[in-house]
Amino acid sequence: MGFRETGESSRRHFLRGAGILGLASLLAPRWAGAETEMGARQPIGVIGAGHIGGTVGGLWVKAGHDVMFASRNPAELTTLVASLGARAHAGSVAEAIAFGEVVFLAVPYGAMPEIGHDYGAALRGKIVLDAGNAIAPRDGAIVAEAEALGIGLTSQKYLPGARLVRAFNTLNYKILAQEANRPPPRLAIPIAGDDAEAVAVAAHLVRDAGFDPVVVGKLADARRFQRGAPGYGQAVSAPELKQKLSLAP
Ligand SMILES: NC(=O)c1ccc[n+]([C@@H]2O[C@H](COP(=O)([O-])OP(=O)(O)OC[C@H]3O[C@@H](n4cnc5c(N)ncnc54)[C@H](OP(=O)(O)O)[C@@H]3O)[C@@H](O)[C@H]2O)c1
Repeated sequence: MGFRETGESSRRHFLRGAGILGLASLLAPRWAGAETEMGARQPIGVIGAGHIGGTVGGLWVKAGHDVMFASRNPAELTTLVASLGARAHAGSVAEAIAFGEVVFLAVPYGAMPEIGHDYGAALRGKIVLDAGNAIAPRDGAIVAEAEALGIGLTSQKYLPGARLVRAFNTLNYKILAQEANRPPPRLAIPIAGDDAEAVAVAAHLVRDAGFDPVVVGKLADARRFQRGAPGYGQAVSAPELKQKLSLAP
């Protein structure tokens, strides 16, 4: 059963009450991803099919998810999509948002106000994994905002109503491509969000991509692994990342 189908609000309420540790077993089987024998065939929309979107989206395709890659120029995504096989598709940003139960946002962070303006309504209620980093001078005025407010709360400001989770922002795409699904200990991916069910779904997708999720906290805590912070750029295992961030083992 998908989140958009029946009883969404009561189910979400129930899941929140259950607490995050119990969520994995309570989530619908389709979100158990590659960890179950049922297989994983989840529609994911990837906005921004460059280095990070192409890499992580490609890992999800390999894990059995259906992925629609989008950019402002979807005709340029033909080669990427052809290389990934039948589960990969290309489309416009609007099409990828409509396609995905989950949306992965992997655009230069300076595009966040434009994405919010143009697609904020469509993203309302969607689980959105946001990998953007605010980089000066590339991203302009929003860099100062992300530093002052924290990047998680800044993203939420531009995407109100989206069920936002910060994820996949800390490591270079080449490291992700090389180290995905390596023998244990797998690389850790820090994640943070205010919506417990969205965080649990993100954790599954981190695992499906071939890494171990480390839940750092709420969106406000995403500043602990934004660019320049101690959790950023750490190509380490989950126990090591938890130790660096003083999180419970
Ligand atoms: N590269 C990394 O290793 C890495 C690692 C972690 C996080 N990040 C972060 O992830 C984000 C993307 O980085 P990247 O290196 O993947 O960049 P990239 O290779 O330049 O790809 C950016 C993608 O976003 C699309 N795009 C740009 N503006 C857009 C808009 N307004 N609406 C829709 N699509 C748009 C681009 O296509 P069009 O221009 O055709 O629209 C392109 O497909 C950045 O915030 C970056 O800081 C990057």
